[in-house]
Amino acid sequence: MSSKYFPSCIALSFLMSPNATLAATMRAVAWFGQPYNVSVIDMPVPSIVNYTDAIVRITTSAICGSDLHFYHGYMGSPNVPWGLGHEAVGYISEVGSAVSSLQVGDYVIIPDNAHSGHYGQQHPISFGTGLPDYGGLQAEYARVPFADESLIPIPFNNQTGNVTKELDYLMIADIFTTGWQALTYSGFQPGDTVAVFGAGPMGLLAAYSALLRGASRVYSVDQVPDRLALAASIGAVPIQFNVSDPVEQILAQEPNGVTRSLDCVGFESVNAAGQRDDGLVPRNLIAVTANQGGIAIAGVYTGGQNSTRGAPRASSIPAEVPLSVSSLWEKALTMGSGIVLPLEHAQALVDLVASERATPSFVVSSIIDIEQVPEYYRRFSDHREHKVVIRFA
Ligand SMILES: *[C@@H]1O[C@H](CO)[C@@H](O)[C@H](O)[C@H]1NC(C)=O
Ligand SMILES: *[C@@H]1O[C@H](CO)[C@@H](O)[C@H](O)[C@H]1NC(C)=O
Ligand SMILES: *[C@@H]1O[C@H](CO)[C@@H](O)[C@H](O)[C@H]1NC(C)=O
Ligand SMILES: *[C@@H]1O[C@H](CO)[C@@H](O)[C@H](O)[C@H]1NC(C)=O
Ligand SMILES: *[C@@H]1O[C@H](CO)[C@@H](O)[C@H](O)[C@H]1NC(C)=O
Ligand SMILES: *[C@@H]1O[C@H](CO)[C@@H](O)[C@H](O)[C@H]1NC(C)=O
Ligand SMILES: [Zn+2]
Repeated sequence: MSSKYFPSCIALSFLMSPNATLAATMRAVAWFGQPYNVSVIDMPVPSIVNYTDAIVRITTSAICGSDLHFYHGYMGSPNVPWGLGHEAVGYISEVGSAVSSLQVGDYVIIPDNAHSGHYGQQHPISFGTGLPDYGGLQAEYARVPFADESLIPIPFNNQTGNVTKELDYLMIADIFTTGWQALTYSGFQPGDTVAVFGAGPMGLLAAYSALLRGASRVYSVDQVPDRLALAASIGAVPIQFNVSDPVEQILAQEPNGVTRSLDCVGFESVNAAGQRDDGLVPRNLIAVTANQGGIAIAGVYTGGQNSTRGAPRASSIPAEVPLSVSSLWEKALTMGSGIVLPLEHAQALVDLVASERATPSFVVSSIIDIEQVPEYYRRFSDHREHKVVIRFA
């Protein structure tokens, strides 16, 4: 070999050392389009594509209620396979040359909806939907575009390895923020009475947010006894909707209705008999809310989509969910809705967790290894888990 090639041989042997990430693979949760079947596969470790990207080595990720809409085959990109998951915390392992406020080793939250690079526009980059494919966060590594704007620094020295604290921050990636924002969308003021429909992890954190923010009484509506017990443990009044009409149960205690109500279910809601009724929760919100009160739709709603390889059951979702405009008008209700934007609420929620005035990780029911993910999607779908988190060694 002529000496002219020598430098590149050194470079090559450096890249191929055991610590190198060249062509490295990672374990990641992938969606192939078959309902009730997620897979854990090897995928390439992502690398910097744009100068503004960062790569994060994920320490903890989670399974979310909105992942179940994919799992059940109702939503998702046709271009299978793609990576699932949109909630994570971890350490920055690489930064693009234009990243200025963050460095390798920083401890960060990756929000489900990251910055799109366009100010003044609300359409964020979403992880774990395949459309477009920014990758999933139920994986060992992620590439985060517009890292300076997208990543939420964690002001916490993790040398003690406090798992609870890490999980508290993880909840800010989506569900704590979504519950908190739902309350804001409803027009909430301290002293209000609040009915939260759905006591899945996001609904529980909406009830928790209402109590933190000074609600006078909070009702938590669900059918699953374990969820209602957890709601009661934080001080909410449990309402079991499959025992009798939840609106009547609440009105028996609040004759004028509650001042705020939240839909923390989204589509795929079921009635007392266990049958799908996608308009049921919005109807209940209008019925249970006092005149001049506010309602918020925080659960996911899609409709009018055709079935594809990635979402084989999408056509079975009704294109429109009916909502009575005359009832809204007669009661003079206000309404808010939309996807969560963690970046808008991050500072407040990070401060609450840092000061231990909020410990939202009380919703976590299991901490698992990524290889156990298929089993735990099933358990979560069957309401046998509150919130499942995935730890990487
Ligand atoms: C689940 O999906 C994977 C990937 O497509 C496939 O290999 C596997 O056979 C499926 N499992 C079942 C039980 O169908
Ligand atoms: C890189 O950044 C440009 C400019 O902001 C953007 O248009 C493009 O989509 C980005 N590419 C990737 C792969 O993220
Ligand atoms: C931080 O703590 C979490 C939880 O124990 C752990 O997964 C992670 O590896 C820790 N990181 C460091 C650098 O200690
Ligand atoms: C770990 O963090 C939790 C939640 O912030 C806190 O209540 C607990 O005291 C911490 N434990 C230790 C050992 O620092
Ligand atoms: C209500 O639903 C829960 C969970 O599905 C079930 O355990 C309970 O037995 C049901 N109760 C009634 C009265 O139907
Ligand atoms: C679904 O398919 C129909 C018929 O091909 C088409 O007219 C419609 O635009 C499609 N809807 C969506 C959301 O792609
Ligand atoms: Zn989520």
